[in-house]
Amino acid sequence: MRRLLRYARRQWKLYLTSIVFLVIGVYLNALGPRYIKDIIDKCIVGGQGNLFFSIAIPMLVVYIITGIAKYIQEFSSDCISSAMQRCMREETFRSILAEDQYFFRDNNPGELMSRTKQDIETVGFTTGFIALFFIEIVVHVVYMSYCLIKINPSGAIPALVIMPIIAVLAIISEPRGDKLSDKRSDDIADMNQSATESLSGIRTVKAFGREREESARFDRRNRSFLKHSLKLDYLWANWITPMEALARIMLYLAILLSGIQVIRGNMTLGELSAVTSYTSELAWPMMELGWLLTEFAAARASLRKISKILDSKPKIKDGEKHIDSFTGDLEFDHVTLEVADGRKVLDDVSFHLKSGKTLGIMGATGSGKTTIANLAMRFIDPTDGSIRSEGIDLKELDLASARSGKAIVTQDTFLFSDTITSNLDKGQKGLLEQDVLEQSAKDAAAHDFISKLAEGYETVIGEKGVGLSGGQKQRVSIARAFASGRPLLIFDDATSALDMETEKKVQKAIRHHRNLTMMIIAHRISAVRDADEIIILDHGKIVERGNHESLMALKGIYYKTYMTQYPEEEVI
Ligand SMILES: Nc1ncnc2c1ncn2[C@@H]1O[C@H](COP(=O)(O)OP(=O)(O)O)[C@@H](O)[C@H]1O
Ligand SMILES: [Mg+2]
Repeated sequence: MRRLLRYARRQWKLYLTSIVFLVIGVYLNALGPRYIKDIIDKCIVGGQGNLFFSIAIPMLVVYIITGIAKYIQEFSSDCISSAMQRCMREETFRSILAEDQYFFRDNNPGELMSRTKQDIETVGFTTGFIALFFIEIVVHVVYMSYCLIKINPSGAIPALVIMPIIAVLAIISEPRGDKLSDKRSDDIADMNQSATESLSGIRTVKAFGREREESARFDRRNRSFLKHSLKLDYLWANWITPMEALARIMLYLAILLSGIQVIRGNMTLGELSAVTSYTSELAWPMMELGWLLTEFAAARASLRKISKILDSKPKIKDGEKHIDSFTGDLEFDHVTLEVADGRKVLDDVSFHLKSGKTLGIMGATGSGKTTIANLAMRFIDPTDGSIRSEGIDLKELDLASARSGKAIVTQDTFLFSDTITSNLDKGQKGLLEQDVLEQSAKDAAAHDFISKLAEGYETVIGEKGVGLSGGQKQRVSIARAFASGRPLLIFDDATSALDMETEKKVQKAIRHHRNLTMMIIAHRISAVRDADEIIILDHGKIVERGNHESLMALKGIYYKTYMTQYPEEEVI
């Protein structure tokens, strides 16, 4: 709520404009019935027909100006809605980007998309259009009541008695709308999630013939959305019907009471017409009240969900120290990572990867290799022990210093929907020379296929561009790491999608980059065999360590892996 006020304060000019024109609009609108009263009393009943145009023309002018004022008011309130949405969306998206991996495990992309779109739209609409409409109703009701009493106090009685009843009724039935709106906004998030999941895994869906199940899954959410929407509509219908009935009774009583007075000669015909007009002007806002309260309830539900994102503080926090030069030195000092269920994903892992050296990591799937890479990048923090880059604990460094000395090539390659050049350039912010770029691509065995593309390095790849094969993508992301110029490269199963031939080429290039410090996580012996140190992980523990020769001599897991991968070769 405080956050909303902060955003709203920035839009104060628009709010002011809207309110000024809203007051003008209400004031002019209230003149209408008075002109009609004059026409009836003076021109028709009083017989002064010559006065007709001197009343009718100003009346037309007033109507036109009312329209203009209303236009400005509505337009500025729409502007507020849009501006509020922009502010909120910006802050929410920035806050999402700042989150750590724990957050993204708990909040799926579909849900986050729904929050940044649907929920923010709801809140924006309410803080702009709906809020001003509410103010308009208040001003309108107060001023119209005043006009009504001024014309004829006794004619005002039905409106003044029945109006509060309608308002109270509307407020009493409100809380249930809150819960339904809440559920409905969750339904939208679920639908989004279901759709993103099915669509991003569309090939798997089709390959396993799961179209029907997926569409059923989506439909379940869709139906739940329908159910909650219908319930809300039902609630609304229940609101509006008695209110409309009361509004009609109010109008009927006003005509009845005024009619009696006219017959008795206490009221003119023009006053009767004015009283009826004012009373019906008081009826519609009461009916809108129900709609307004539903909108407020929806906005409150959405705001709560957005606040949850904005208030969540990333567990990975910036340290104080900043460094600008990196050598690639990385040390794990008795690192243990325990997950929620008490299982140790890593158990007392220590190694020192000195600048310019290469560390090979092998181990079965699930043994904790990727976890080591994640810890090194400080995507997560260890439960015990410490990780030092350049001799400084990662927790003491700011996140930029903790990460910018390292480039990671992950298992699941990700490329941006952009040109190859700009993909390769990611670590350098557009400062890369073309020859550095090409050299990196050559080292990653990517240059040949890139040159063959129609537009070479300027080819747009990804969703809206040329599709690349898994191996090609992997080579581009390896080239990106080379091009980043960062001294420590972490390859997490980065050559798994390459054929033996290409893998050899890339490995030769990697060896060529001897000035780099490298952590190579791999399944194939060939990838790690030349490393200065190789560690073998098993269930998070280092079970063997040494270089190729000493591990072979040990005749343990490494030796056995070697024998399965090179059964025909002589052991050296
Ligand atoms: N944050 C986490 N919460 C729970 N389990 C995790 C977490 N991170 C990793 N794991 C588990 O830790 C184990 C090691 O994972 P990972 O490092 O990805 O293995 P590898 O890369 O060697 O295949 C797996 O069993 C995985 O399910
Ligand atoms: Mg892994």
